[in-house]
Amino acid sequence: MPSTAPHVSRPLSPAPVRRGDFLLVTCQGGAEAALCQRQQDILPLLIKGAWRRGVVTFRLPSLGAGTPHFDPPDDFTPDLIFARAVIRSYGQVSGASDSERIQKLLALTGPAGWDNVHVWQRDHRTEVSPVAIRAALITALAVRLQPADPALQPCVQSSLHTGIDQPMARPGDLVLDCMIDSADRWWVGWHRAASPSSCWPGGIHPVSLPADKVSRAWLKLDEALATFDLTLRPGTRAVELGAAPGGACQRLLEAGLSVVGIDPALVDTRVAALKNFEQWRMRARDVRLKNFRGFDWVVADMNIDPTSTLESIGRIVTASGVRPEGIIATLKLPEWSRADSLGAWLKLFGQWGYSPRARQLSTGGREVCVVALKSAGPAGRRRATRPPGR
Ligand SMILES: C[S@@+](CC[C@H](N)C(=O)[O-])C[C@H]1O[C@@H](n2cnc3c(N)ncnc32)[C@H](O)[C@@H]1O
Repeated sequence: MPSTAPHVSRPLSPAPVRRGDFLLVTCQGGAEAALCQRQQDILPLLIKGAWRRGVVTFRLPSLGAGTPHFDPPDDFTPDLIFARAVIRSYGQVSGASDSERIQKLLALTGPAGWDNVHVWQRDHRTEVSPVAIRAALITALAVRLQPADPALQPCVQSSLHTGIDQPMARPGDLVLDCMIDSADRWWVGWHRAASPSSCWPGGIHPVSLPADKVSRAWLKLDEALATFDLTLRPGTRAVELGAAPGGACQRLLEAGLSVVGIDPALVDTRVAALKNFEQWRMRARDVRLKNFRGFDWVVADMNIDPTSTLESIGRIVTASGVRPEGIIATLKLPEWSRADSLGAWLKLFGQWGYSPRARQLSTGGREVCVVALKSAGPAGRRRATRPPGR
């Protein structure tokens, strides 16, 4: 009997009979400890297993092991913040050739009706072709690919880690995952696509920076909008704190917003010249609070300590007459250990009357993107509070 998930109306391919005994979670290289800290906070039942740069495995406690049984749902996408891909893993295959590894992979997975295959590299310097491996797997596994939904497909161009034009899964698809660990060793697993990033191979935003964009911040904002499924309504107004050289403002303007960029540094002339854009050339804290009235979005991407970024945002969103519908904030971590304060930082957004979600974006550096939407309920509950953890 095919199963159906509530968020997808079509019948779904049944999950594989062999489920795999552990979770394989990928992250940005260096973020492993932050990822494990978050796992301890929200999924303490998991038992940390093998790890290496950019990958951590967790054993699932099973029946009879003296611990509570935990069998996650097929479309398990826990809010691990630092996780890119979360897959149910069968283990590794190694061998001298792709065909040898594919034979071992088939023995490991057993029969299953995959809807899609995601192949990506743990380290993009490994000299392999994910596209060729994916094509060989599709043939060997007799995967009948469904046409991609054009509404869900962003402008997929070449992507360093995933290869070119690797179509995304659709929500509900049963995906065979193959992460290339090294030229002769692959990790194999599966997941049911659900959240936007679980539809991307390796959870990596499948878009590269178009040549006419003035900074990578364009890409980060593009990924944030896709990851958090945010719709920016044309005609609304955004202010960005830390706007130069202007990639994020470009992305906001392309969405039809009017944008004010605040930065002591100059915004690129190509952005400065755009209709509906204005720069206030100063530091965020030097802008009078009444000037923030009427903005629908506060975006922040300043290269300062996260506590200072939070102070700047808190000052604005708790000011009288200022009540944007959402905040998109980049918290830059001077070192990964500062992620320890993330829980307390996220609580601040709640105290300001916003519901935060956070993710370390695949196009971002050592930083966390927080998207917080205005909570229902009276605005009067807002409190200005100082961020902890400097
Ligand atoms: C990573 S860059 C921002 C990139 C930008 N969002 C884009 O889309 O291209 C960080 C910027 O923060 C600015 N900045 C640092 N402190 C600031 C402050 N207190 N107020 C406003 N901007 C600040 C810096 O001048 C720098 O241009």
